Amino acid sequence: MNSTSSPIAPADVHRPRYHLTADATWMNDPNGLIRHDGVWHAFFQNNPEGSTWGNMSWGHAVSEDLATWTNLPVALPFSETELIFSGSVVHDAKNTSGLGATDGKGPLVAFYTSAYTPAHPTTPGIQAQSIAFSEDGGATWTYYAQNPVLTRDSENFRDPKVFFHQESSRWVMVTVEALDHSVHFHVSQDLLAWEPASVFTHPGLDGGIWECPDLLRVPTPGGGEDSWVLVVSTNPGGPAGGSGTYSLIGHFDGRRFTTEAAPQPLDLGPDCYAAVSFSGVDGDPVLLGWMNNWAYAEHTPTDPWRSSMTLPRTLQLGTAADGTLEVIQHLIVPAEIRTLDLELPTSSAVLAELDAEEPIRLRGTLSTRSAHRLFLRFGDGPQARDLILAVDPEGRISLDRSDAHREPFAPEHTRTLPYAPATDRDEISFDLVIDRSCVDLELDGGRAMISAQIFPGASTLAVFTEPAA
Ligand code: FRU
Repeated sequence: MNSTSSPIAPADVHRPRYHLTADATWMNDPNGLIRHDGVWHAFFQNNPEGSTWGNMSWGHAVSEDLATWTNLPVALPFSETELIFSGSVVHDAKNTSGLGATDGKGPLVAFYTSAYTPAHPTTPGIQAQSIAFSEDGGATWTYYAQNPVLTRDSENFRDPKVFFHQESSRWVMVTVEALDHSVHFHVSQDLLAWEPASVFTHPGLDGGIWECPDLLRVPTPGGGEDSWVLVVSTNPGGPAGGSGTYSLIGHFDGRRFTTEAAPQPLDLGPDCYAAVSFSGVDGDPVLLGWMNNWAYAEHTPTDPWRSSMTLPRTLQLGTAADGTLEVIQHLIVPAEIRTLDLELPTSSAVLAELDAEEPIRLRGTLSTRSAHRLFLRFGDGPQARDLILAVDPEGRISLDRSDAHREPFAPEHTRTLPYAPATDRDEISFDLVIDRSCVDLELDGGRAMISAQIFPGASTLAVFTEPAA
């Protein structure tokens, strides 16, 4: 847990309590997410030597409840010739790779991208997929001697996500050719030898480079064959500007992903990137995203630690009003967070006076029939800063964080994207968690998610309503 491994200093006003952060260094994408022997492991892109991007290595944290995290030593360190870019971890329970002891429980196998530096003797600038393995549940790791296990002699081939496909009895690796806007599928019987299976691309997602793919198996509502959700991050081209994450609902036959659906934002907010799922989870997939945006990630005012993960969330499919499938996500909210269930008048009313340093969960419903606003006011007087959950005259909902910073850190990225409910329901539910600088919002029973960072740096929080401006 952050608060046991490095107690929150009084001055560290932005440090969230229930969102994973590195102790005192830079973090980007979640990597190697796995639930193993009852422990949730989150590895992450980490600069062990600084508070901006560089020296990419895998940091490591563990949790028993997905609410509080304990930071551990760096798991996969960079070297002069190789940076350790994003990837995934699987439990090779049957030791198909032969990397574990023959009588053991099977190794954990990490897949990461070797980003070879200019100092590399034979393949400078190339990105290829490599392996490290652990026989002690993820505490210590050994780099595989015959790395890389998969190369295309490309400078932008990265972010391997590996899972086992039951029907074909094959391991599947999902990667991107980032500049080509394509997802590559490879299959293997032993995690070591990989054969190309297919390439996926989609004209609806051409706003930026593609990164950090994932493929999730999800039950289809009403039964029948499972559906599959391809998750792809793009930078730029995100729904709120800068970087963002999208989902595509479709089919997967063990080699090829197909879809008739258009890409949908996995999150409408500015701060959810590289979201991927935990391996080793039975039931609904559980995802974590990086709670930042490449447009300004290195400038957020939290030196020396910088960036957090989103709260974890589950993903399911539902049936939309028009009969098509839709992604439904639910926040996994730590039970320790105080919850206020609010009755929202559409007129002016003060609902609560709170301590802004304490995480809070606010739940309620918004009427789509009249324009009104829920204010979260941090501090008071001229220093007051507002985060606003608003319903506009068309019944669209938005989270406006443009004023919610002590100093503007990214004036060009205060844009919010309104959520328009697809039906003409009178009331839309919201579930809003504020954990210091981290805001996670689930709207409309999970049909929309909005993740956003705020930096108001105040000790009080007033919750009140106002009619529309
Ligand atoms: C996405 C990303 C990945 C890459 C990693 C490097 O944020 O660019 O594609 O593996 O970050 O840190």
